[in-house]
Amino acid sequence: MGDSRPDPRILGYLSSAREDAEIIRYDILGSQAHVLMLLKTGLVSKTSARRILGALSEIMRRRRSLFARSGSTYDGKNAGGAASAEDIHEFIESLVVERAGAAHGGRMHAARSRNDQVALDIRMKVRDNINAMCGHILDAAESMILFASNHRRTVMPLYTHLQQAQAGLFSHWLLAHADALLRDYERLSGAYTRVNKSPLGAGPVGGTSLPIDRAYTAELLGFDGILENSLDATGTRDFAAEYAAAVSIMMSNLSRLAEDVVVWSTSEFSFVELEDDISSPSSAMPQKKNPDVLEITRARAAEAAGYTGAILGIVGGLASGYGRDLQRTKPLLWMVSDAGVSALLAVQSVLGGMRVNKVRMRRVAEASDLVALDVAERLVLECDVPFRTAHGTAALLVQHARAIRKSVRKMTMGDIRGALRKGGAADAKQPPAASDPKILHAITSSLGPVSSLRNRVSRGSSGYAEQRRMISARKRTVTRLRNALEERKKGVDEAFASLKKQAKRV
Ligand code: ARG
Repeated sequence: MGDSRPDPRILGYLSSAREDAEIIRYDILGSQAHVLMLLKTGLVSKTSARRILGALSEIMRRRRSLFARSGSTYDGKNAGGAASAEDIHEFIESLVVERAGAAHGGRMHAARSRNDQVALDIRMKVRDNINAMCGHILDAAESMILFASNHRRTVMPLYTHLQQAQAGLFSHWLLAHADALLRDYERLSGAYTRVNKSPLGAGPVGGTSLPIDRAYTAELLGFDGILENSLDATGTRDFAAEYAAAVSIMMSNLSRLAEDVVVWSTSEFSFVELEDDISSPSSAMPQKKNPDVLEITRARAAEAAGYTGAILGIVGGLASGYGRDLQRTKPLLWMVSDAGVSALLAVQSVLGGMRVNKVRMRRVAEASDLVALDVAERLVLECDVPFRTAHGTAALLVQHARAIRKSVRKMTMGDIRGALRKGGAADAKQPPAASDPKILHAITSSLGPVSSLRNRVSRGSSGYAEQRRMISARKRTVTRLRNALEERKKGVDEAFASLKKQAKRV
């Protein structure tokens, strides 16, 4: 009991040293802005501000050596005077006091608390992570769109329930995944507007009696305004959960892409082949090329969803106001970010090193009865047959074709007569066209995946013309979003550059 130093194991248990490595830079920037604000409102003298800012910029310059990545620099093992610092905020303050002296450095923490400070740091970090993630998303989407323009005529079957459904194009599949990514971009950009609010100056929970200027620090740090309510500003991590959820959704999209490619790379499908550098050989079976990168992507998507669940579990159990539980949201957030970026890069290299077996895709599309729906639609369009009847007729043809082991397209007039007879369609009261073997034969023999895709005109369909339109529209979207992202990043960069200049000028 006599020894007041906490048990080092407990200190390690409480410390956020490791996860704080990610926010060192932001913590220093936040302190610089805070000190400039204290100077502006007269809460510190020019001399004190100069001493503190001098110390902060030295700490910023030397941060890599001051905070060894292992996280052990200030968690009690080799931190010298700061051995008992529980986190980066305390440690940086102690370094400032050491350098500027207590009479000056001791003034830095007026009108703020670690509670608003840590919320600030996390927001700045997540803000940068969102921008980086959005950049990677656009790269991945763009490579899918470019890939799609090379495969606007690559015919393949489209599946539902993993059963062959309609003729399609490989570009359509690529564009589907590009669109999902573009929505992920939008989702993250939506989160950005809620992340990019400054909690600084909220104090521990209820604000301060000192005359501060919250809007000024927000502006110095490139925020789009303040998070007003101090209780909300310090206690909420909804923005973190939102970010993690958006990344998790993105990863579930990538995971679905991965699943398709895993299936297509099997020798049974052989739609695609993965280059050696993105597949792993089996240690035992030399014929195998395992799609490990894609399998890891699927697994990491599940992990990210788990981290998001953990964040929600932490925040949902908390009374209002800051609780130390919130500290544990940080490592989860960093893991989510890492998972998201690595998955985006992995998927890009898979697509870059994937050989598409066009011949095989087309042969499968032609061999199957993907045109069944097209037969029905021709009857609707050209012969005014009600769709339900047309569907019944097409079904008779498919069933009979299966029985005689032919594809619908290869049926002779006699085969079609046989199908109608078997189905009783010849005697039933049907619109004549639906039971006229000559008309039906004209339709079935003229249809194939290619004509089917030429006829497919609905907006967003696999049709050839739609692919061309969608590809150019998506290219324009990527350019527009890239410009928006650059603007967003410029806002932050310029704020930091001007902050640096102002700190120097004091
Ligand atoms: N290390 C803490 C965290 O990461 C910083 C805030 C600590 N505040 C407190 N009242 N103990 O959340």
